[in-house]
Amino acid sequence: MRTGVFGQLLNYYRFWLNSKPIGGHGIHSPYVYNLYTEVIEPDKKEKVFDKIEEYRKELKGCGISVIRKSIGESTNSGYRGEEVSLRKIATSVAIPKHLGRLLYRLIQNYQPKTIIELGTSVGISTMYIAHDNSKASIFTIEGDEAVLGIAQNRFRKNGLTNIQTLSGVFDEQLPRILSELNSVDFVFIDGDHNGRSLINYFNLLLPKINEKTVIIVDDIRWSKNMEKAWDYICANAKVSISIDLFRCGILIFEKGIAKQHFALRYGPY
Ligand SMILES: C[S@@+](CC[C@H](N)C(=O)[O-])C[C@H]1O[C@@H](n2cnc3c(N)ncnc32)[C@H](O)[C@@H]1O
Repeated sequence: MRTGVFGQLLNYYRFWLNSKPIGGHGIHSPYVYNLYTEVIEPDKKEKVFDKIEEYRKELKGCGISVIRKSIGESTNSGYRGEEVSLRKIATSVAIPKHLGRLLYRLIQNYQPKTIIELGTSVGISTMYIAHDNSKASIFTIEGDEAVLGIAQNRFRKNGLTNIQTLSGVFDEQLPRILSELNSVDFVFIDGDHNGRSLINYFNLLLPKINEKTVIIVDDIRWSKNMEKAWDYICANAKVSISIDLFRCGILIFEKGIAKQHFALRYGPY
């Protein structure tokens, strides 16, 4: 069950007490200090962000609704199998701007060649990943054809030929695409916010990660079982650095760094 407003406030209070402040003071790992001060924190404006946010604005104003399929643990339980406006999807299902900008900066920093996204929806996060990144191969999986169709149209319109969309449930599409890849460099998990599913996707990905792989998990505090699943995957011996940004988490597999966990403040949450 999704954590309610009071639970989220309490979570945020606890996070605030335990997290490192803006500026990077107190981060003793040089790797994480550099990542935080050079990539996570500097929220610079890029030209391409306007293009993506213009699309979000169009969706908000178009007056169209879709019947959403009932798959996975939806972002908002009211959306399962119901008619939902694109306004609502663009406003509260798609990632917020500050998380999109973070994805963009992480991609620009790590320059991953092979990227997998779980949960395309209308394609807003995919666009933050794909723009200015034409050399990467991006595979994005979505089980709801209605929203995927909308995303595909926009990818075509924006000339994003580096994106391959996979229609179907993660349980089937993820093993299928992984079987065709030697290695995966960057993963964004943003669908089926259920702890058991998250652990399952993480375990499927593990054999294909390399030392430069970065995995971003959204909504790590969506529910108690997502919190537990996040803690569980952070404890995996292959994860060298885990970073809790409150809303989402970053997993790094770099070798030769002492295993450490960080809670760092970023964005308006
Ligand atoms: C939170 S939305 C993704 C938002 C998107 N990343 C963005 O920021 O624009 C999650 C999406 O994952 C899809 N989804 C959830 N569980 C799934 C599953 N098991 N298989 C395939 N798609 C799933 C839902 O249909 C939904 O569109």
